[in-house]
Amino acid sequence: MVLIASWISTSAIAQTPVASLSSPANTVGVNIYLSPAGEPSYKIFYKGKDLVMNSRLGFELKNQPALSGGFKLVSAKTSKLDQTWEQPWGEEQFIRNHYNQLHLALRETSGSQRKLDVVFRVYDDGIGFRYEFPQQSTLSSIEIVRELTEFNMAADYTAWWTPGQAGNQYEYLYQQSPVSKMGLVHTPVTMKTTDGTFIALHEAALHNYSTMNVTGAAGGKISATLVPISKNMPTAVKIQAPAVTPWRTLQIEDSAADLITNYLTLNLNEPNKLGDVSWIKPAKYVGIWWELHLEKTSWKSGPTHGATTANTKKYIDFAAKHGFAGVLVEGWNKGWDGEWWLPGGGNAFNFYTPTPDFDVEELSRYAKQKGVYIIGHHETGAAIENYESQLDDAFDFLQRYGMKAVKTGYVETGEELVNGLYHHGQFYVNHAQRVIDIAAQHKIAVVAHETVKDTGERRTYPNIISREVARGQEYDAWSADGGNPPNHTAIIPFTRMLSGPMDFTPGAFELTLPSRPKNQVNTTLAKQLALYVVIYSPVQMASDLPEHYEQHPDAFQFIKDVAVDWQTTKPLGGEIGEYVAIARKARASDNWFIGALTNEKARNLTLKLDFLDAGKKYTARIYQDGKNAHYAKNPGSYEIRELDVAHGDEVSLQLAPGGGAAISLIAK
Ligand code: NOJ
Repeated sequence: MVLIASWISTSAIAQTPVASLSSPANTVGVNIYLSPAGEPSYKIFYKGKDLVMNSRLGFELKNQPALSGGFKLVSAKTSKLDQTWEQPWGEEQFIRNHYNQLHLALRETSGSQRKLDVVFRVYDDGIGFRYEFPQQSTLSSIEIVRELTEFNMAADYTAWWTPGQAGNQYEYLYQQSPVSKMGLVHTPVTMKTTDGTFIALHEAALHNYSTMNVTGAAGGKISATLVPISKNMPTAVKIQAPAVTPWRTLQIEDSAADLITNYLTLNLNEPNKLGDVSWIKPAKYVGIWWELHLEKTSWKSGPTHGATTANTKKYIDFAAKHGFAGVLVEGWNKGWDGEWWLPGGGNAFNFYTPTPDFDVEELSRYAKQKGVYIIGHHETGAAIENYESQLDDAFDFLQRYGMKAVKTGYVETGEELVNGLYHHGQFYVNHAQRVIDIAAQHKIAVVAHETVKDTGERRTYPNIISREVARGQEYDAWSADGGNPPNHTAIIPFTRMLSGPMDFTPGAFELTLPSRPKNQVNTTLAKQLALYVVIYSPVQMASDLPEHYEQHPDAFQFIKDVAVDWQTTKPLGGEIGEYVAIARKARASDNWFIGALTNEKARNLTLKLDFLDAGKKYTARIYQDGKNAHYAKNPGSYEIRELDVAHGDEVSLQLAPGGGAAISLIAK
């Protein structure tokens, strides 16, 4: 293994590194330093250039001196791994986990001689590091007030970010600014260097710890800002040694599009702990959902109630007729009649008592007979204690009625849970894990909304199959700002989507919304189809109403055909906020699917089909914007054309303003 990297930059290194490590192909490197006062820091290089300048490591603790200086290096052990593992479901079947590792053991030279380990894993496409608190008599109960980790970028890079702790969890439009202007933000935050390298800063394996936000400062400096336990309690994390922190991660690529297939955070999570997970099946679903957001029916009981036995049967029939596996039903249970979204309102929710007009016995029988299953819904109103007190009964109920998946929700006003603790703090992180665990015991998959960001836990717990954790399509129905602008879905593939699958709920065919006259969906219909490929999720909703699909059986065919589980993914191009094109090969067939979309600008794209299997012939069915399509003025105009294609052919696409295209490539 190359330990001392040959390209170590000569620029402004104040100290000699105490240890260095480079990635297997020597593209990424890290130097570790100890200052004369024994303060640890690190620096990252990419292809011979400084990427992250000297950045601090350590902690401020409650009732203890800071764990940030006075250290000596006790040992620096290297190891390596090159292993390919298989995802039970995913955007890529086989993932290579190839890194060099450096495990540093630090020990204070005076006082109680506390120990702190730091482990770096260096990949050719990024780096992860975490702290480990070894078992020791002088440091057992640890209360972290501040994590001192810095990520000091070599220059004031351009960043795409959403604000952290700003009152609406993760549901913001992305903003672009220099790092120095971004303030407190969520991760992943994606950056572009002046010479066109792309970096995504995030974390991996977030367990029993608080979420890491980061704060930008002058010159491109970034520091970790842990979400505190509550407003009145500065402590962020309470742990007991031995313990490890989540990995702090930097994914590094030469193009924005390559970030899409960077699997570093997944690699840094532990392998599957659930054993046989063949019961977790990627699926497409429909449901009583969009009609609620359109205010055609209601979650609350009474004459407008959506989750009635008759209405659910209508969706079950539709699902069975068109090959959808699941039917989501929201508003089926007790608790929706008050102001459930206000603090404490969620205490009214009961997770095993249906409303009288929702005959769960009959519906589960009917669904089973039709070969579909009901997807349960647990809106908690962020009243965690109320939910936790019912978890056993709630999941017994789901299992008893054959519900193979549940959508959870934590709607709240502000950043605090009903118990006053912060939504993304350690308490909530542990709650989310308890739900994943109990769901796994009942063989139920979880699709979590308003939950904490994804940090790759699906590798370890494959039943956490999707999350929302960004502005989804629902904003188009009611958001006072007019909904998601056309560039939103040209940004999230390079930002939010780097964290994991998203339950975006695409598929709107009626794009002007008569029941919501102030809003409309800001895409063309063809772009809605493109989203099924662009926004990865193993569960994809066809979110519109059955009657809207029935008006467009030809376009609906794409949603029926498109796969949700993939053998491989190939980014075909993209620029953040401008456009993106992605091809994915289905896992269960030789068919490929392509999604391409643009922001508010019309765009011509030529896609080279050099990823297709050589020697095979395909029928390409292209769903594209009509000649005068426009996301605002003429969103519903689309055309479908068919041609025969093979490896190496090219396809030209004309994307309308706010438009897109979807292609199914069916192997002959
Ligand atoms: C917010 C979720 O994102 C949405 O999908 C759901 O319909 C509502 N909460 C009600 O639970």
